[in-house]
Amino acid sequence: MKIAIMGAMIEEITPLLERFKEYETVEFAKNKFYTLKYKSIDITIAYSKIGKVNAALTASILINRFGAQKLLFSGVAGAVDETLHIGDLIAADSLAQHDLDITVFGHPYGFVPESKVFIKSDEKLLEIAHETARALNLTLKNGIIATGDQFINSREKKEWIKKTFNANAIEMEGAGVAFVCDALNVPFFILRAISDAADAKAGFDFDEFLQSSSKISADFIIAMLERISI
Ligand code: ADE
Repeated sequence: MKIAIMGAMIEEITPLLERFKEYETVEFAKNKFYTLKYKSIDITIAYSKIGKVNAALTASILINRFGAQKLLFSGVAGAVDETLHIGDLIAADSLAQHDLDITVFGHPYGFVPESKVFIKSDEKLLEIAHETARALNLTLKNGIIATGDQFINSREKKEWIKKTFNANAIEMEGAGVAFVCDALNVPFFILRAISDAADAKAGFDFDEFLQSSSKISADFIIAMLERISI
C-alpha cells in the first residue's frame, strides 16, 4: 500500500522524519519528497509550503507521481470552537474554503460551481482515527475545518467564519487537499492540533506552540499507521 503523509510547514513534518530516520529525498516541482518503507507500506512525506495552491499542488503530486492511495495530513490549526484548546486534536469530517466568495451571483460563501461548499473526509480513516484515540486514551474531536489563504488573528473574522461555516477550526491548506483527493478519488484524513485561538494573540501563540502541537499531531498520525498497516 502507498500512503502519503503531508504537512504544510517543515515543523509539521519534522517529527515524522525524525521518527522514521531513514528515507530517500526526491526533488520535484521545486519541492522535496521523502520516501521510505514502513512495514508493508510505501510512505511519501512532504510539506507543501503554506496556502491552498501549494497544498493542492503537493497533494496532486503525491497522488499522481508517487502513487498515494491514501493521504493523511498532519499539522496545526487555529481554534474557532471554544471547547478546543492549545494541543487539542481535531479531525476534519468536512472542509470548506472560507475565502471563496461568489455570493454576488447568489451562491453561498465557499461554494464552488459544479461542486459544493463542503468536502467530506473518508469515513474509514475517521473510524481508524477514533479507534486509535480510544486505544491511546486521547480525546479526538471531529469537526468542520474552514480553510483560507489568510492567517486569522481577529475575533471578528473568526466569529464570521464560525457563524458562516459552523467551523470548529481554521487553517490554510486542508480544503485544498480535500478538493484534490475528492476529485482523484483518494481517501483522505486531515488532522490538526490546535496552536492558537485565531484571536489577537494568535501570532504569538502560533510561534510558541507550532512545534509542540505539530508533534502531537504527527505522533497521532504515526499511531494511526499501525492500524492502517494491519
Ligand atoms: N493555522 C494555525 N493557526 C491559524 C490561524 N489562526 N489562521 C490560519 N491558519 C492557522
